[in-house]
Amino acid sequence: MFISFEGIDKCGKSTQVDLFTKYLETNGIDYIKVREPGGTELGERIRHILLHQEHQEMCARSELLLFLASRAQLVESVIKKALSEGKVVVADRFAHSSVAYQGCGRGLGVETVEMLNNFATGMIYPEIVFLIDIPVEFVLDRLKNSGESDKDRIEKEEIEFWGKVRRCYLKMAKEHEEFILIDGTKSIEEMQEKIIEEFEKRYGGDNSGH
Ligand code: TYD
Repeated sequence: MFISFEGIDKCGKSTQVDLFTKYLETNGIDYIKVREPGGTELGERIRHILLHQEHQEMCARSELLLFLASRAQLVESVIKKALSEGKVVVADRFAHSSVAYQGCGRGLGVETVEMLNNFATGMIYPEIVFLIDIPVEFVLDRLKNSGESDKDRIEKEEIEFWGKVRRCYLKMAKEHEEFILIDGTKSIEEMQEKIIEEFEKRYGGDNSGH
């Protein structure tokens, strides 16, 4: 089973990914965790280029193609193998990040990004996407607490950008049944409970062969 976690920056996604993988471990479920951009040697190098503040001149198309290059490598050298071995793959971001950030945030267009995602992933997509949703004001508030020099290139964006990204995610959640919306304003424990409950509904179903 392939599961991804999505959401705008500072939504609390990585905390939930960690809690979820601890749950898998406790329950003896074999899994791997990957992050995007990154997750392979090549991908980690691309991550550095993408997030480093020095590349302010990077245009939106270059940005998208770099995310896609990292993704293609991750699918080919890590995800496919893990899935074929029956492992649960837990991805901290995947293809839907590009739709939201580059398709909507940068304005490259949802259809264009979806088409390029199909190419990069070879049509391998998560069966569950946990979308952790927070209001844009939360992002700005939480980003205020990081010093300017601690922010990565994307975190330097303004309120309109985050609004576009959030709306895009919410639209995908409405249109795609694999999306499960998690209210990111709830407590860490409440979110975790809901995530595990939704996972168990589907994972149990998987095992019973339905
Ligand atoms: P990261 O530090 O991993 O942030 P987070 O903890 O929020 O996941 O940085 C990833 C950044 O890259 C984040 O701002 C989202 C952005 N991103 C895109 O713009 N497009 C993409 O396709 C992906 C995977 C990430």
